[in-house]
Amino acid sequence: MNKEYTINCKKDETVLEALRRQGITIRAFCNGRHSCGKCRIMLDEENMSEVTYEEMYLLTDEENAMGARLACFVKPDGGDVDSLKVTVLDMLESEAPIQTGTGDLSMSFSIGDLSFVAIDIGTTTIAAKMIKGGEVIYTASRMNSQCSYGADVISRSESAIKGYAEELSNCLMDDINAIIDELPENPGNVIISANTTMIHLLMEYPLAEMINYPFRPYYTGWHKKNFMMDSGKILPWTILPNLSAYIGGDVVSGLYFCDFTETDKVNLFIDLGTNGEMAIGNRQRILTASAAAGPAFEGTRLNVATDVIKCMADLRRNGIIDENGSLKDPYFDEGYNYKNSGMNDYVTLYQKDIRDIQMAKSAIRAGIEILMKKYGVTALQVNKLYLAGGMGHGLDIHSAVEIGLLPKELESKTVPVGNSSLAGSIKYGNSGFDDSDIEKIISVSEEVLLSNEKEFSGLYYEYMQF
Ligand code: FES
Repeated sequence: MNKEYTINCKKDETVLEALRRQGITIRAFCNGRHSCGKCRIMLDEENMSEVTYEEMYLLTDEENAMGARLACFVKPDGGDVDSLKVTVLDMLESEAPIQTGTGDLSMSFSIGDLSFVAIDIGTTTIAAKMIKGGEVIYTASRMNSQCSYGADVISRSESAIKGYAEELSNCLMDDINAIIDELPENPGNVIISANTTMIHLLMEYPLAEMINYPFRPYYTGWHKKNFMMDSGKILPWTILPNLSAYIGGDVVSGLYFCDFTETDKVNLFIDLGTNGEMAIGNRQRILTASAAAGPAFEGTRLNVATDVIKCMADLRRNGIIDENGSLKDPYFDEGYNYKNSGMNDYVTLYQKDIRDIQMAKSAIRAGIEILMKKYGVTALQVNKLYLAGGMGHGLDIHSAVEIGLLPKELESKTVPVGNSSLAGSIKYGNSGFDDSDIEKIISVSEEVLLSNEKEFSGLYYEYMQF
């Protein structure tokens, strides 16, 4: 849905900067770097900078024909514009409530009188469930409003370092307040799990040393404190601890949900997203790693990783791409129009998209191989592979094996666990806020930095092949 605003825009600022300054959140996945084409607006003002070819290229023919502009390109052509009418196309807020209402996580909980809301702050989506007496009584989810500052954690961290830390924190506080406001009753307690960057952005912690060498987070421990919500209610918050810059409380929570501290069997855990976080281990020892997957599995054109993986397997099976990932002629130059049975429209895949996917899947597969080797087990010896993330449920595991993302020995051992970060927070709340198992995960976990592993680059190139 489109939404209209009247704002002021200073002479040297882009409309995107002006909107942000005035607290208006719009899609800006590339954080104003002129590459995503998402910050689409219409303007009712002539004294603005001319449309450029670069901008036209990012807009569709239809958008160009109707005179749409990109907010990160346009600036006033002369001096300040005091009253600029901006229509934001596809307003972020309109898409925010993705899922609401009562829901069931298909889990059994211990019965108790506790009431709490568990919130998973994902880089793209914020998901929440309210629990009362051990039952899920409400489910909510919305897009993370920080999407206006870029789709990935690096863009947002850079924005925070450049002076937008308060705005980024406010985005999350507003999202959390909005979720709490829509709950059917006072949740009593708030439990939050998130990746390390989200926690730093929420708490306005310094980020420079985390996104640059020595990649050291400012703080990784528990947070237990009262927060005053917008409604005036004071609620006790528990934020689950992170392990490192790359392994956040979302992964810790996922490992806790998957009972890593309950068993001697060796299990694998993978959360496929912008970073493919993974862990292997049992109650005695856990090794973790993170492989940069880039945007491939949270792609902007193919909707979810599920599609990406199935698509690659289809293309390879039908000879549209070769084992090196090259599109055959004439698709190499023109792109290939892909549509599977679950999709409404065709998506044109270009060679660059396939390279992104190739790099992502080889980084993750190389990470899996290194973790298994360092742990001293083979894929045959792994008991289960827990596949976390929204994509897990619909993923065609066979396609993931076919394209080499997962070892074939794990095909029959893969268990999709959905949002295990949220599920872990719920498990924690239902345990009566018992920190001990989460503390245990932290104490037996050790991080493997894949970039420091000699074998990583060889394996990476090996698994680039389809
Ligand atoms: S093109 Fe990405 S924010 Fe404008």
